[in-house]
Amino acid sequence: MRRKLVAGNWKMNGVTASLPEVEAIAAAAAANPGVDVALCPPATLIAPAVAVASGMPIGGQDCHEHDSGAHTGCISAAMLKDAGATLTIVGHSERRADQNETSHDAWAKAAAAHRHGLNVILCVGETEAERNAGRAERVVQAQIEKSVPEDADGSWLTLAYEPRWAIGTGRTPTLEEIELIHAIARAKLGMMVGAEKAEAIRILYGGSVTGANAATILAVDNVDGALVGGASLTAEKFVPIIEAAA
Ligand code: G3H
Repeated sequence: MRRKLVAGNWKMNGVTASLPEVEAIAAAAAANPGVDVALCPPATLIAPAVAVASGMPIGGQDCHEHDSGAHTGCISAAMLKDAGATLTIVGHSERRADQNETSHDAWAKAAAAHRHGLNVILCVGETEAERNAGRAERVVQAQIEKSVPEDADGSWLTLAYEPRWAIGTGRTPTLEEIELIHAIARAKLGMMVGAEKAEAIRILYGGSVTGANAATILAVDNVDGALVGGASLTAEKFVPIIEAAA
């Protein structure tokens, strides 16, 4: 039985004045023990967020594949851990698009995070052109194949299916489309790590999840939670999603 996970990704949003939102989200997490909740603020806020999160897991949004070195502007998994993070997102489509990150990069980052004891939310998802060309399933399968570490299991790895065209657009796939990709993703994981381990790996849906659509999306087979961007920025918008998952 997989527990649902609702994770917030603040992306490049949030300053110290936003910490009361972290506190309010943490209070909602504590009030809804039936669901796991995590929040990934910008790196500058990880340590202060941990200080007010009352044990709610705080994560990074990316990590470098190396532990240290001459990589200006980058943050290692060891640094995330040192700041108090217990998880990190890797392979987000915005990094794939903006920083030209590949599935191999995501694989190396996931492995680095795991090496440092961080849980990982690994993102995959097709572009609109790929979907329109009928290639969504193959694209997601290929991304999983290239980015999921061989030793992955549900104790530390969570997959997030985020169709790029649904991120921040207010558009979502149909429930049938979500169900199909999640089923295909789990089957692919099964081929890679074995069916038993694949059954324990959570697969989140991400892309324009709101308090209004969360309950129906979260009820879809093989949807084990949500990775939420815009609607995670305030407790007012995020708490209804947590409650829908509880
Ligand atoms: O990481 C979160 C996703 O990119 C979804 O973002 O909820 O703003 O569409 P969104």
